[in-house]
Amino acid sequence: MRNQLYKLIINGVTNYCYKNCLDYFSHNSTILDVGIGNGLMMEKYHPLIKSKGLKIYGIDINKNYLNHCEHLIRTYHLENHIEIYRKPVQAYEPVKKECFDFILFSMSFMLFNDQQSVLDRIKNWLKPDGEIVFFQTMYKERSRLMEFIKPKLKYITTIDFGKVTYEKDFFALLDKKKLSISEDRLIKREWFKGEYRMVATSIKALDGHFVGKGMNDVVKSHQYSIDNSQ
Ligand SMILES: C[S@@+](CC[C@H](N)C(=O)[O-])C[C@H]1O[C@@H](n2cnc3c(N)ncnc32)[C@H](O)[C@@H]1O
Repeated sequence: MRNQLYKLIINGVTNYCYKNCLDYFSHNSTILDVGIGNGLMMEKYHPLIKSKGLKIYGIDINKNYLNHCEHLIRTYHLENHIEIYRKPVQAYEPVKKECFDFILFSMSFMLFNDQQSVLDRIKNWLKPDGEIVFFQTMYKERSRLMEFIKPKLKYITTIDFGKVTYEKDFFALLDKKKLSISEDRLIKREWFKGEYRMVATSIKALDGHFVGKGMNDVVKSHQYSIDNSQ
């Protein structure tokens, strides 16, 4: 029942997310998916995950979602491509440091009360040219209506949508944590001026240059700088 509700409510967003993120990930990369949820994306994207040779480590705190994930891994024979762990990101320890090419937050970053400490923690898990990819709904202007509605949706839908993410605050956090934007994709405009966005970031080197995978090319056209967002 929970999984049906989840499918009904967020399947559309999940599809947008994984379509863009899986396309963005380079072949043979190792990815940590923070808050993998019930793994619905496998239904549509199992051929792509296999053909790109991706290795995904999915973590989540919800046992019910992970059981569903496990079922899909078996159904689509993804045992060599997806491993799941029941751990909060605040307690998860990868087998070794600097092991991920990408760390993905798909609609999960806005759930964390202490986002700064989550970023501090996971930064050490990235390979030197690794990237942190965020997929979330973002708002340019304050929406008191969404601030009111979002926390209450949890009681109606059983899904936690976390807090409203404002572009200005989010980019300020990235800047504070020395994360540079290598790509900022507007995926879709949503209700009440919300925007689905995929933002890929890499760690700034001490000299201010970027070290992320995407930064070997010209920075993509939708990139925002902190200055522009204010
Ligand atoms: C809105 S769902 C998104 C699921 C999936 N990534 C998607 O896009 O369909 C957010 C997920 O984050 C998980 N989550 C919440 N807190 C977490 C934490 N501290 N560590 C890891 N996962 C967490 C939730 O259980 C939930 O499955």
